[in-house]
Amino acid sequence: MKYVIGVDLGTSAVKVLLINQHGEVVKEISKSYPLIQEKTGYNEQAPNDWVEQTITAISELIKDFEGNPNNIEGISFSGQMHGLVLLDENQEVLRNAILWNDTRTTEECEEIYERVGKNHLLDITKNLALEGFTLPKILWVKNNEPDIFNKVQSFVLPKDYVRYKLTGKLHMEYSDAAGTLLLDITEKAWSKEICELLDLNPEICPPLVGSHKEVGTVTEEIAEATGLSTLTRVFAGGADNACGAIGSGILEDGKALASIGTSGVVLSYEADGEKVFEGKVHYFNHAAPDVFYTMGVTLAAGYSLSWFKDTFAKEISFDELLVDVDSVPVGSNGIIFTPYIVGERTPHVNATIRGSFIGMDSSHERKHFARAVLEGITFSLNESVDIFRENGKSIDTIVSIGGGAKNESWLQMQADIFNANIIKLQSEQGPGMGAAMLAAYGCGWFNSLKECADEFLKEDKVYQPISENVEKYKELFAIYKEVYGKTMDLNKRLVGYRN
Ligand code: XUL
Repeated sequence: MKYVIGVDLGTSAVKVLLINQHGEVVKEISKSYPLIQEKTGYNEQAPNDWVEQTITAISELIKDFEGNPNNIEGISFSGQMHGLVLLDENQEVLRNAILWNDTRTTEECEEIYERVGKNHLLDITKNLALEGFTLPKILWVKNNEPDIFNKVQSFVLPKDYVRYKLTGKLHMEYSDAAGTLLLDITEKAWSKEICELLDLNPEICPPLVGSHKEVGTVTEEIAEATGLSTLTRVFAGGADNACGAIGSGILEDGKALASIGTSGVVLSYEADGEKVFEGKVHYFNHAAPDVFYTMGVTLAAGYSLSWFKDTFAKEISFDELLVDVDSVPVGSNGIIFTPYIVGERTPHVNATIRGSFIGMDSSHERKHFARAVLEGITFSLNESVDIFRENGKSIDTIVSIGGGAKNESWLQMQADIFNANIIKLQSEQGPGMGAAMLAAYGCGWFNSLKECADEFLKEDKVYQPISENVEKYKELFAIYKEVYGKTMDLNKRLVGYRN
C-alpha cells in the first residue's frame, strides 16, 4: 500500500493526516499553538511554533506507522491564508507573523486605494483591499517598524514557511498568492505595477509554483527528526479554502461549499477568472490547475461559538453546550446574534463593527443563546449565499464541512437557512484531505483531481430544507440584516473604550 500525508496548518492547530491509496485516513495527529493578541484587533503567531508542532505531529504519526516510511510517497500542505511572515537575507524570521484575522491595517487599506486606485486594484487582483490580506500588513510593517522592514529580503505565507523549513526551498503557490493582493490572478504573475505604485521592491515576492507541483524532498535533518524518508516528494499545496474545496470535491461548475472553522466560508467554483463581482466576494485562484473560486467570509464563525463557550460555559463540552438547541424553536425565542466579534468581511467590510445579542429577555436560558449563536453564524454565511444568487449563480446543493458538519441540528439549520440541500461527507477532513489529494495527484496516482475526488470522497447524508423553517428563517434573516446598519454607528462610538 502507498500513502500520502496532508498537513493542515490552521489558526489554532496543525492537523496531519496519513491517507492511503483509497483515500482512507489511516492516522491523524493534531498539535496546537497559541495565538498572540497584544491589543484588540492584533492577532499574531510565532512561525517557529508552526514548524515545531508540525515536526512533532509528523514524527508521532510515523512512530505509530506500521508500514515502511519509504511507501509514504508524497506530502503536501494546506495553510491559513494571508498571514505575513517576513524573512531577512538569511531566511530568518524578522518578527511574529501577522495573521489573517488581524485588523490593525485600516489606514494601509486606504493608502492602497489612494495610490493604486480601487478600480485598478480590482482589475488586477479581483479583490478589495481588506485588513486581513497580506499587502496591507506589509505596508503596516513598512510604516510602523521601518528597522524591521529595511531588513526584509522576502515574504511568505504560513504554510510556505513550514514547507521551506522542511525542504530548504522557498516558494509560494497561486492559490495562496491570490490572497496577498499582489498577484494578477488571471495572469498568474506578481504585479510589478502594484509593487511600484507602493514603493515595494518586487524582489520580496518569492517564486511562484502550481499547487500540485513538486518542490523537492525533505532535508536529511527533517527526515531524521520526523522519521520521514528522504524519498518522500514534497508538493506545494494550497490555501486552506482552496484545499477545503478540493477535499470536498468542489471541482466543477455548480458545486458550493460551506466551511465553518475559526472563520466561516461559503465558496463556489469558477471555471475562469473573467467574471465581475466588484469585490463583493473574494475571487481567488483554485489549487486545482487553472481554475478559480469565489467566496464570502464570516470572520468569526466557529470562533463565535468557541468564544461563547469559553466565556459562558467553560466547564462543559461543545456537545453538552449544543445538546438541547433542538428544544429551542427556530428564532431562539426572539434572540438574534450577529457574529461580528472581531469585525466583519462579507458583505460588510468593517473592522470596527462588533457583535450583538438583540432581544434578550429574562426568560432566556443558555440554550436560547447557544441556538442564537448558531443561527447568527449561519445567517452571516447566508449573506454570501445571497450574493452568489443575486449574481445569477444557482446554489441548490452545498457540501458542509468543519464545525458546522459535526452537529446534526446545525446541518439541518444550514439547509433551512441556506434553502439548499446540505451534503455531509462520510469522512470529512476538509483542507487536510485536499492537501493529501494534491500530493496523490502530484505523485501521479490519478489523472486529475476530479478522478482522485471520485475515489477518495463519499457522501454520507443529505439534509433537505424543511419548508416551514425556510419561511420563518426568511423573515428572521431580514431582521438579522438590519442589525448591522442599526448598530454600526453605536459601535463606532464605542471604539475609544476598547483596549
Ligand atoms: C480567507 C481567510 C480565512 C483564513 C482562515 O480569506 O481569511 O478563511 O484562510 O484560515
